[in-house]
Amino acid sequence: MNNSIDLRSVKNNRCCLCNTTSRKENTKNGYCSIVTSALDEYPVRCVGEWAQEKIYWLLSYFGIFSKGMKNKWPNAVNYVEICSGPGRCVIKDNGDEIDGTALAILNHEAFNYIRKAIFIDHNEKVVNSLNHRINDLGKGDKAKAYLGDYNDIEQISMILGDLPPNCLNLIFLDPTDCSISFTLIQAINEILIYTDFIINIALYTDLNRNLVRAFLNPRYQTAREKYSRFLGSDTFFEKQINKSLAENENFKDLRMRFLDDYKDNLVRLGFKYSEYPISIKNYYTILFASKHHTGLNFWRKATLVEPSGQKTFNL
Ligand SMILES: C[S@@+](CC[C@H](N)C(=O)[O-])C[C@H]1O[C@@H](n2cnc3c(N)ncnc32)[C@H](O)[C@@H]1O
Repeated sequence: MNNSIDLRSVKNNRCCLCNTTSRKENTKNGYCSIVTSALDEYPVRCVGEWAQEKIYWLLSYFGIFSKGMKNKWPNAVNYVEICSGPGRCVIKDNGDEIDGTALAILNHEAFNYIRKAIFIDHNEKVVNSLNHRINDLGKGDKAKAYLGDYNDIEQISMILGDLPPNCLNLIFLDPTDCSISFTLIQAINEILIYTDFIINIALYTDLNRNLVRAFLNPRYQTAREKYSRFLGSDTFFEKQINKSLAENENFKDLRMRFLDDYKDNLVRLGFKYSEYPISIKNYYTILFASKHHTGLNFWRKATLVEPSGQKTFNL
């Protein structure tokens, strides 16, 4: 990882470096039930080392976006994260404890330019821990974690209604599967008109497991309904070309067509500035979407240099 990012890394010597089975048993509610933070004793989330790369790309965009917009939108830039987690993570393979996305944003120098930050998670313990951490950092005047379920559009809309109007917003959606419905994106778009999205799409995990089955196996009807909600309609499953790809188990092309449908639906809402997403070790797929070309220019700048310090090839 690029060492210009300070994630306040410490060794958590109590982490027992679980195997796959014990990890599942010990992390039922999105945080480790065995180990707390070596820094502040609040709960930690167990993650793979690839989580650092996700944080890197998010911070990279956040810095360029907040600094680039601070004069055009003085004291009028907000940050929202849905699926915030508790704020600290432990890397399962080595026990290194680091800031998660929420604390990494709060500790970023560009956070000074943010008017308000909202973090949402459906787990009460996670939300309480993050609020303790926000207050311990002395950022409670600008930032707050809320208990909220992204399936409850009314609830999320109420929370976002707390944001000052006529602001520019960066929204990061970080779920573990494809269960955030497109209706939520539509609702957010109605409340917060000036918004850039960064969306973590579980393209290689959730979709790889179930997308083909959702076409071919009636027992996977629930998965099919979930994916249709994610995309905003069932048309993806009705297209003959997609059915054929599923029958031939062409996972790669099917995934790409799923992503294209999602991007097309975002374009219909006005988010026409987007591009091929960043893939992180086949675990995360990070999609950026904006209504303004400036957003895309910032994203291109933010993704010019890999976490290793190497220049990216695609630009
Ligand atoms: C991938 S983790 C987030 C990690 C965090 N953004 C980070 O990188 O440090 C996903 C989070 O989503 C939360 N979550 C899962 N389902 C949710 C829902 N329906 N509504 C809101 N949050 C949810 C979980 O509690 C978990 O903390």
